[in-house]
Amino acid sequence: MFFNSIATLAIFTVGALARDSLHFVNCGEGANGNPASDSVIVFCNDDSNCHFNPAPSNYCVVSSGGTLTTWERSGDCTFTTGVRVNWSIRTDARNQPDFSTVGSAGNGGQNFSCMKDNSPVMYVDSFGQACKSIYYCFVRHLKLNSIKHSN
Ligand SMILES: *[C@@H]1O[C@H](CO)[C@@H](O)[C@H](O)[C@H]1NC(C)=O
Ligand SMILES: *[C@@H]1O[C@H](CO)[C@@H](O)[C@H](O)[C@H]1NC(C)=O
Repeated sequence: MFFNSIATLAIFTVGALARDSLHFVNCGEGANGNPASDSVIVFCNDDSNCHFNPAPSNYCVVSSGGTLTTWERSGDCTFTTGVRVNWSIRTDARNQPDFSTVGSAGNGGQNFSCMKDNSPVMYVDSFGQACKSIYYCFVRHLKLNSIKHSN
């Protein structure tokens, strides 16, 4: 009987990796609608599992009291956790194709690329307002192609 050596293969299940995201969200229809309307940034630590009313530590109120913010600008918002997110969205982003890159964001530790969303309802908030994702941002990873090999 022969025993062959077996090379161990490390198998990476890329699809199972949770992906951090930010969503720029409008709840309600603004000043002419329900005064509970507001604009918030939602942080998700797994973008595939983010369709629920977020915990208070995971959203940051950018505008409230019936006013939806203008996302197409540079701005920042500090979460109750103390994390400050800043963003820059091009002023003509509404005219760009859905899912195209329209800006960037940062949280002090990570840099994000931001895309135009097709405004799906992400969740219904505690006021009963439908909350739609207007833009979403994914972490931009460092490129490894700057590593030099010496022969
Ligand atoms: C966020 O702020 C940092 C520090 O001031 C700055 O370097 C970065 O460009 C800003 N990012 C955006 C997207 O505005
Ligand atoms: C984020 O971007 C800033 C400004 O471009 C840069 O200085 C910083 O190293 C970046 N951080 C990460 C984690 O990539």
